[in-house]
Amino acid sequence: MTNIDLEAKIPNNVSLGSDKKLQRALEEWQPNYISWWKDMGPSGFQEKDVWLRTAISVDADGWANFDYVQMPDYRWGIFLADPIKDRTIGFGDNIGAPLWDVVPGEHRNTLRRLIVTQGDTEPASVEQQRLLGLTAPSLYDLRNLFQVNVEEGRHLWAMVYLLHSYFGRDGREEAEELLQRRSGNPDKPRILGAFNAPIDNWLDFFMFTMFTDRDGKYQLLALAESGFDPLSRTTRFMLTEEAHHMFVGESGVERVVARTAELIAKDPNDDARAQGGIPLEMIQKYLNLWYTLSLDLFGGEVSSNAASYFAAGLKGRAKESTYEDHKAIDGTYRMSILKDGVVVDDDVPLRNAMNEVLRDEYADDCQRGVDRWNKHLVEAGLAFRFSLPSKRFNRKIGLYANMPFDPDGRLLSPGDYDARKDQWLPSEADRDYVRSLMTPVTEPGKIANWIGMPRTGIKGLPFEYEYVRL
Ligand SMILES: [Fe+2]
Ligand SMILES: [Fe+2]
Repeated sequence: MTNIDLEAKIPNNVSLGSDKKLQRALEEWQPNYISWWKDMGPSGFQEKDVWLRTAISVDADGWANFDYVQMPDYRWGIFLADPIKDRTIGFGDNIGAPLWDVVPGEHRNTLRRLIVTQGDTEPASVEQQRLLGLTAPSLYDLRNLFQVNVEEGRHLWAMVYLLHSYFGRDGREEAEELLQRRSGNPDKPRILGAFNAPIDNWLDFFMFTMFTDRDGKYQLLALAESGFDPLSRTTRFMLTEEAHHMFVGESGVERVVARTAELIAKDPNDDARAQGGIPLEMIQKYLNLWYTLSLDLFGGEVSSNAASYFAAGLKGRAKESTYEDHKAIDGTYRMSILKDGVVVDDDVPLRNAMNEVLRDEYADDCQRGVDRWNKHLVEAGLAFRFSLPSKRFNRKIGLYANMPFDPDGRLLSPGDYDARKDQWLPSEADRDYVRSLMTPVTEPGKIANWIGMPRTGIKGLPFEYEYVRL
């Protein structure tokens, strides 16, 4: 199964050629996908050669091949990780039972919904980022943006493969609709909030790949535990690609922070802005925005849906095997909830708390990245520290939706909150300023003033390499 047929019209390791009906259906979807990519993918660079990696095997070592590719010719394909020998359903009421190779009738609608919701995020992010190439700070960054974009396109393929092969006619209809919705379009928006928010500058982009792609990591880890084996194997391979997206985000913000620290040191008044940099306080606002938008993606704190996904063996916890109790019937989870308008700690039945369990793991992972950014501030002798805001701040989903909590988690009056909001989230003036810095740098080896150099280039190549031939 590991052998990838790269010569096929649709590269795959699922023996697509042996299922003519499925192959035909996907080959009919393919031109619609390409036309979506040309309309909604990276604007202005479709005919340029980009130094991209493409999957050539799903083995842990060396699955990727690097070469110049024009993006519409990228070998988008269907790649599943190898089956794990003797794996059985690992949690919930069906623990120990054989995996499902077809969709169990009673879970059909739920599984389809989970797959469509995941699938919808993939093209959405490409749409959100489609103009960023025009203002890239370096060819290295431009290439990384396009690598992320083509892989999100491949993730759409991964979900569409599941819809086409396992959900018959409704699956095919859903696959069409995945190409019809548009990020930020009020008439036919993408399904989830963060995927309709504008990404109109590179600080947004780095924060998105740091925080929103990391939500993706946790959703994929939870789905990788699924008893529906094709979903598990698909998401396991997606995770290997997702790691690079989060690297782009975490190291991108890190380079902005390091550069700001340098510019502060240069300036007689410690003013990064006077030196054309992005002030630390402004970076914090973008952190607040994308972290909280991403927290919403985990769903409500107390959720009967989450409980039933877990009970059925459809969606587990991230790295379920690291937990001891895989049934989670008697356990509870301590979290803060609202009682009569007051925040109190409470023990929630564990299955109902699964969204919060996943969200807390995610928050810990984000904190690790923030600590890394703060090291640069310590080294530079600066007093400022980045921090993650309270999980109650700026929420649109769940217990704290649309309530005026500040970043420390204190409940304010609505008037107080509105008056101070611009201290915590990017204001129009902040957005204008960050946008004003976004002038493209396209000469190999050169970089914009507001961001630091990466530590290394790509795959052993130097930073000066011509990653995109313009
Ligand atoms: Fe993705
Ligand atoms: Fe991603």
